[in-house]
Amino acid sequence: MNAEWQEFASGQKLADALADAVAKRLEEAIAARGTAVIAVSGGSTPPPFFKALSRRKVNWAKMTVTLVDERFVPTASGRSNARLVTQHLLQNDAARAGFIGLYHDRDSVEAAAEAADRVVGGLPLPLDVVVLGMGTDGHTASFFPDAENLGELLDAAGDRHVLPVRAPSAVEPRLTLSMPLICNARLVALHIEGADKRQVLEAALAQSDGAMPPIRAVLENTVSPAHIYWAPKKDAKP
Ligand code: 6PG
Repeated sequence: MNAEWQEFASGQKLADALADAVAKRLEEAIAARGTAVIAVSGGSTPPPFFKALSRRKVNWAKMTVTLVDERFVPTASGRSNARLVTQHLLQNDAARAGFIGLYHDRDSVEAAAEAADRVVGGLPLPLDVVVLGMGTDGHTASFFPDAENLGELLDAAGDRHVLPVRAPSAVEPRLTLSMPLICNARLVALHIEGADKRQVLEAALAQSDGAMPPIRAVLENTVSPAHIYWAPKKDAKP
């Protein structure tokens, strides 16, 4: 695995650089295939990147935005990634993009994942861009280390596009893009900030035994080297 590491003096400098790189990839996709699909992650890290990307002058009307993962909550919930992306990314120029969420109002997260699997399977694949985050437990997407179906989630050869996740550490059940869908993307970027996450990632990459941290399983399975974007936390002591 030879992921490419890029570090920035601040979260805003990282956000602007990542937005430039993603916008370029999306425009190249549109030029080559007439359309582009990007999958983004939720959480507290992405908003500055979302805002920067929303102002990039690309042909958003030919683009689809989807999610790397989603909490099994209605889109009106404050925990919804669809709500986060609508508030911070699908604004300004990017308001013209199409959006495909993962949440479906079903009796179970398993039934919702089957519905999402069919919808995501209808998108032009492979994905052009996937932007991942990472938790300090080494999870990425919703591949939580304590997930009941972790083996299925980390299976690089599965045929699902979207899987359900039940993990005690995940607060609520989740919906996540599958390992193959993430790893086959033309560009996989990992956006992390803070010394703690840098240490978690370095430890995961250096680990030689024990359970494979999910972030390492992803970085080892991407078809092209992942691009890691890191900056110190904005409140980092000078
Ligand atoms: C989510 C994300 C998740 C996130 C990490 C990091 O739905 O929460 O998709 O995988 O990327 O948990 O979250 P922070 O950016 O808040 O640290």
